[in-house]
Formats: sequence, C-alpha cells, structure tokens
Amino acid sequence: MALTIGVDVGGTKVAAGVVDDRGTILEKVRRPTPSTNPKETAEVIAEVVDLLKGKFEDVSAVGLGTAGFVDETRSTVLFAPNLAWRDEPIKEKVESLVGLPVVVENDGNATAWGEARFGAGRGENFIVLVTLGTGIGGGIIINGELYRGQFGIGAEMGHFRVVPDGRRCGCGNRGCWEQYASGNALVHEARDLARVAPAMAGRLLELGDGRPDGISGPEVTQAAREGDKAALECFRTVAHWAGQGLADLSAILDPGAFIIGGGLSDAGDLLLDPVRGAFEDALTGRGHRPLPDIRIAELGSAAGIVGAADLARARPRQDAVV
Ligand code: BGC
Ligand code: NA
Ligand code: ZN
Repeated sequence: MALTIGVDVGGTKVAAGVVDDRGTILEKVRRPTPSTNPKETAEVIAEVVDLLKGKFEDVSAVGLGTAGFVDETRSTVLFAPNLAWRDEPIKEKVESLVGLPVVVENDGNATAWGEARFGAGRGENFIVLVTLGTGIGGGIIINGELYRGQFGIGAEMGHFRVVPDGRRCGCGNRGCWEQYASGNALVHEARDLARVAPAMAGRLLELGDGRPDGISGPEVTQAAREGDKAALECFRTVAHWAGQGLADLSAILDPGAFIIGGGLSDAGDLLLDPVRGAFEDALTGRGHRPLPDIRIAELGSAAGIVGAADLARARPRQDAVV
C-alpha cells in the first residue's frame, strides 16, 4: 500500500501526517511555525517529514498544503499575506532536504480536496470550501476537480473586497473579506467591544484575564455557548459578513454545498444558523432558486494533511494535466 505524507503549513503550526490511500492518518506530528525566517520553516517541514519517514518504509511522496499563492507549477509560493514567504522555491528546498518528490498546494485547496474526497463533500461535484481561521482560505471543486485558475492562484476569496476603504489586510489592500469574516475577525470584534463597552463585555473580559487583548477566539466561542449576549453579538456580526460573502460566491459559482472549516467552525450551529440567515437575506434571486447546503467540515484540522497527502499520491496524473 502506497503511503504519502501530508504537511499543513500555517501561520502558527506545521502539522504533518502519514496517510494511506483511504485518507486515514496513521501517524501525526506537529511543530510551531518559526516566526519570520522562511529558511527555518523549510527545515521544520523537513524535520517532521524525516521523523515520519523514519517510521514507515513505503512513503512515496510529500504533499505540502501551505497558506499563500502557489504558482501553476506547484513549486513556488509567490506571496503569502500571513507568512514571511515571497517567491519561495519551497518544493526544491524541501525535496533537497528530504529526498522525496514534493507537491505544493495552497492550504485552502488542499483542505477542499481532503473534504471532497474523504469528508463533508464526498459524492458532490460542485463544492466551495472556506476555512475561517487566521485568514480565510478557499477551495473550489468544479466537476469533481480542484479549480486552480490559469496561474495556480484561484480561489483566494479571502481577498474579495467586501468593504470599500475598509480594514487593512495582510495582503496590503483594504476591506478584504478575511478582515470581516475570519476567526481573527471574531477576535477583533470581541476585543473592540471589550475596549469600547467594557460593561457589556464582562464575561469576555473575565475570560481574557481582564484585558481586551487577552480575549482569544476559543474564549469568544465558549462565552457564546454559555449564552453570553456580547459574544453572541460578535458571532452575529461575523456571521453576517460570512453569509453575505457566501451569497456573492453563490452568485458566481452556484455550488451545491458550502463547507465551512477553520477554527471558527468549531462553533458549529452557533455559527451556521446566523450564517444561513445572512446568506438567505443576501442571495440574489432568493425565493426563486434552490439553496445550496451550508455545512461544517468533517475532517477538522486534519483535512489539510489528508488533502495534501492525497494530491501527492495523485501526482503523476495531476502532473499530466498540468
Ligand atoms: C491567504 C491564502 C490562505 C488563507 C488561509 C489567506 O490570507 O491569502 O493563501 O489560503 O489565508 O490560510
Ligand atoms: Na485556495
Ligand atoms: Zn487581503
């Protein structure tokens, strides 16, 4: 049985796993992402791959799912709003360190592929996946195939402009969707409320050790679960933006299902209910068209690993297409 290694490279952690051809993770490791030095990130990737490779004999390839714009040859990260990489030849670097073929894919794309093959998108042909985390990752499956665009950098819906002259984004622009509907956006809302209206945000401040900047995403979710009004309002605000963005994506792509992943999706129905409401309010032609399903990702944080590993396994066929 051929095994491959999938590596999920994010702004905070490098998570890797050995994966079989049914999408099962046999063994997993994770390390923190080195903060700003791109060279060290390649070394951390090589370290986790070597560790896993040492335990399994028949590993044939490595798939990297990384934040950022991956070029059409799937070798170079051209630009990453939330990482230090600029024109980073990551395929070559990691290949020379680990001695295995490496396939590089955008993290949102890898996650979408993982969910489409083995998770919440099984059996569906038209799917849009969004991960609501540090930023917003995206992946589009059209006719069962991953859509990459002409230059490999399609599905960057986190940088769809939703607010003219809005909040500054890591990409340099203003008003990007990921500044309003990501996990970070939820934290932004909660901290802002705690700063401006501390009397309303008592529970949030308590969870944040008394400081607005101490409030984290999981804590906002916890407070919302307890029924805290301020936290629920933050959820409504972010869900409103998320639902509106999905409605715009429906206008363009008309998928059968949206799959929502990323840290924010841990909130489950607390997030989905207001997202569905906002989606239905904003959808063009509402009342006269079928509605896509909006559901939570099934594989959770493992989807990026599983998807990247599966893309590495499919390498010859994929390479032939390119
Ligand atoms: C980046 C994407 C990435 C997403 C999630 C965005 O800011 O532009 O490439 O997929 O964050 O990590
Ligand atoms: Na993507
Ligand atoms: Zn942006």
